[in-house]
Amino acid sequence: MARDRKPWISKDRLVRRLQDLLAMEYEDVFLYMWEASLFKKRLGGGDSLHHRFSLLSSTEMRHADRLVGLLISLELKPIWDFKTPRRIPSVRESLNRHLEREFEAIRIYQELVEETGEWPHFQTVLKGILEDEKNHLKVVRHMIRGLGAGSGGPL
Ligand SMILES: [Fe+2]
Ligand SMILES: [Fe+2]
Repeated sequence: MARDRKPWISKDRLVRRLQDLLAMEYEDVFLYMWEASLFKKRLGGGDSLHHRFSLLSSTEMRHADRLVGLLISLELKPIWDFKTPRRIPSVRESLNRHLEREFEAIRIYQELVEETGEWPHFQTVLKGILEDEKNHLKVVRHMIRGLGAGSGGPL
């Protein structure tokens, strides 16, 4: 009888996806962290932005830790193979990039959650991260709305 869902994920593919996600999480850790300090220096009243970006960076670090835990539970050595993301000096452009990255994170975690029915512990951890990423998307959208429609100045 034909199944109407994708087959469960193989261990090899799961490992590759977890390693790719680990790289992505670390890129986000550093992006949010660098931009937090950059925007704090450049913008008057940038403390709130600095605080929000710092919180986002901390959450991405927790995600990376959880992915490392999953890889270790498979008796694998996590690989910290990530690129240094390009720094963007504009708050607006940076937020737009984060919007795209959070969308992409949601897409990948959602897909992985759907494929890990045979890995219930993994699915639970990935669902938790997915909920955080959805929340990040809301936060980033809120910050973009807070910038308004202007295009001048240090933003
Ligand atoms: Fe994340
Ligand atoms: Fe995120």
